[in-house]
Amino acid sequence: MNPVNLAVNLGGLSMKNPVTVASGTFGYGDEYNHYFDISRLGAVTVKSLTLRPRAGNAPPRIMETPAGMLNAIGLQNIGLESYLREKVPFLREKNCVIIANIYGYTPDEYGELARRLEEENGADAIEANLSCPNVHDARHARGGALVAQSPEKVLEYTRAIKAATTLPVFIKLSPNVADIVEPALAAQQGGADAISLINTLLGMDIDPETRTPRLGNIVGGLSGPAIRPVAVKMVWDACRALEIPVLGMGGISSAEDALQFLLAGARAVAVGCMSFRRPDTALKVVEGLEAYCMRHGIVDINDLVGAMRL
Ligand SMILES: Cc1cc2nc3c(=O)[nH]c(=O)nc-3n(C[C@H](O)[C@H](O)[C@H](O)COP(=O)(O)O)c2cc1C
Repeated sequence: MNPVNLAVNLGGLSMKNPVTVASGTFGYGDEYNHYFDISRLGAVTVKSLTLRPRAGNAPPRIMETPAGMLNAIGLQNIGLESYLREKVPFLREKNCVIIANIYGYTPDEYGELARRLEEENGADAIEANLSCPNVHDARHARGGALVAQSPEKVLEYTRAIKAATTLPVFIKLSPNVADIVEPALAAQQGGADAISLINTLLGMDIDPETRTPRLGNIVGGLSGPAIRPVAVKMVWDACRALEIPVLGMGGISSAEDALQFLLAGARAVAVGCMSFRRPDTALKVVEGLEAYCMRHGIVDINDLVGAMRL
């Protein structure tokens, strides 16, 4: 028998350990199964799904930055129908817990995605991406306004999604706000079962030789180790204000990084773009968390949640 309990409950979703992957950094899981058994993860979170397939933004769409990367993928994805037909059978056969990340243009579209995913057994939980920085035209002033930047809209969208499904609903928020607590409380008021934090930080990069932006979309989202301290702080802020749990992410590359999020109050964590550097990073985090618990005599990982000493 495993001497350490790693199992957590994230807003009604049972996970055998607190580690998932961040949407958009793990495809639909299948490609990564060549590197390790993806069913070892607490859950697999899939790339944002839209009702219809999307080709995404013009290239270049990613670039490396000091201690991180900028991306402006623009929600390229295979669309709901192909996902249900081509990707879900494999994930179900492997007994993976599925967090299906969704993106819509209206509250109704989010609701439709959530309803279909539940009806077709394509998800165990819904993560609604209200915070994609890469689907607006950056040339327009305020062209980048996100649903997650308006607490009123967060409330409206969350209610619409909750009304469409009985699955646990996680609301993924943006760090590009003055105070993360406001949209987080709005999501909670709307009935969210958990909050996912953080999406990428808005950024841009210019090539002085050509005087042109290095991303086709001009602006993109910053991820990776560079954003980790920002993410830990936002998770801490949110956790102190919320009654619902938080799924923490942003720059996690090791169990030590993941522990910071748990100690700040996150119930579970997601490994994002560091899977690009080492495809089995998330598995290493699972193993490292267990080793840490054994080393520190922790019998239940839940005892670490919010256990930062002050
Ligand atoms: C290439 C790339 C694509 C992403 N696509 C999505 C997406 O489709 N939906 C979403 O909610 N977040 C998306 N994200 C954001 C990640 O899920 C995560 O919130 C963010 O990258 C912070 O974690 P990290 O620093 O560990 O990568 C993407 C991130 C990257 C790097």
